[in-house]
Amino acid sequence: MKKAVVKKCDRFLLEIDSIAPDKSISHRCAMFSLLAKGKSVVKNFLRAEDTLNTLNIVKSLGAKVTDNTETIEIECSGEIKEPFDVLDCGNSGTGMRLFCGLLSSSDGHFVLTGDKYLRKRPMKRVAEPLRSIGAKIDGREEGEYAPLCIRGGRLKSFDYKSTIASAQIKSALILAALRAEGVSTYKEKELTRDHTERMLKGMGADIKTDENLITTISPLKEPLKPLEITIPADPSSAFFFAVAAAIVPDSKVVLKNVTLNPTRVEAFNVLKQMGAKVEFVQKADIYEPIGDIVVESSELNGIEVGSNISWLIDELPALSIAMALAKGKSVVKNAKELRVKESDRIKTVVTNLRKCGIDVKEFEDGYEITGGELKSAKVSSFGDHRIAMSFLIAGLKCGMEVEDTECINTSFPNFFELIGKISQTEVKDED
Ligand code: S3P
Repeated sequence: MKKAVVKKCDRFLLEIDSIAPDKSISHRCAMFSLLAKGKSVVKNFLRAEDTLNTLNIVKSLGAKVTDNTETIEIECSGEIKEPFDVLDCGNSGTGMRLFCGLLSSSDGHFVLTGDKYLRKRPMKRVAEPLRSIGAKIDGREEGEYAPLCIRGGRLKSFDYKSTIASAQIKSALILAALRAEGVSTYKEKELTRDHTERMLKGMGADIKTDENLITTISPLKEPLKPLEITIPADPSSAFFFAVAAAIVPDSKVVLKNVTLNPTRVEAFNVLKQMGAKVEFVQKADIYEPIGDIVVESSELNGIEVGSNISWLIDELPALSIAMALAKGKSVVKNAKELRVKESDRIKTVVTNLRKCGIDVKEFEDGYEITGGELKSAKVSSFGDHRIAMSFLIAGLKCGMEVEDTECINTSFPNFFELIGKISQTEVKDED
């Protein structure tokens, strides 16, 4: 395993145009190409472990993938082929859950597996609604845990009211609905990230969401149009450097060509409410609004976040670093979903902040952080990429050693190159 050591840094001014491409959109580009007939052309695909695993699965399902370095071409017949082997999603919950929806309605036998972390994450949240419309899915503990085994076939249409605010569940069901026997509806309590709806609509699918957050999906009459897309930078990855600029006095970062989809940039708004200077500069609108985000340091104040949690769920670990350095108390609530991410992020954030000398109270659905002085410490990533990167960013303020950092390759392979522009960072074998 590799540990990383980052040194306290001085002020920095940085423009970054190589933030990792968006992970959610990259997964979807690879998967949705299977629903098209012809060649999808994808620029700026995220070449990280999670999304390359998805691309490999797409190949095993019959797509011809040509990597031209600048673009990836994914050529499909509009039909999904039964694979010769098990399908390995690695660390990715998005990969596994979306494939459940896609493959439940495809003829054939499919086995989805993943790494030791993914095999412990809950899957009944997609298996149960899919079973209720006729899907044949099984797995350990009655389908709660992977490896999952799917026998694809015909599915009934549905009217589903979601109880968990999750874009992964919504997307799995939308994918199933595209090949169900009639028109289906999916109702959300709060709008979760909507890349699936935007992209499928752009490919010609009949999908509409009304003001009551009911999405209506008509079954496909023919294969979709192939995708032609340049994937924007990932706001969840960009956010680590936004926090860096917010906490290091007199610093400023320009994060170029990020998706400004409102369901993805809420953490930047929270950082602004805490006192950082944050500006969005929209430059384009192709499937998604795209532009630059400028963040400058300032005194930070504590804040309470408890609504629209799905809009900032992936950024809460990094936001907790800003909260630890803010004046006064900060509270995160209604965020129980954090417990079933790549790690139990309530426990891992609380454990690591305490190691850094911060006073934190743990709740079932969040935590309360009393801002103070962060101290240099030796912490673990717990195998979770966002925990690893959050505490390395904290290290810019006080120095930090983070163990088990290979997981960063699941989403942000050039993270060390970028943090290395701000401060001396060393990655070495653990003793
Ligand atoms: C994702 C949705 C979110 C998010 C994950 C990516 C997606 O998960 O945490 O990193 O691409 O749909 P949930 O929808 O389960 O909350």
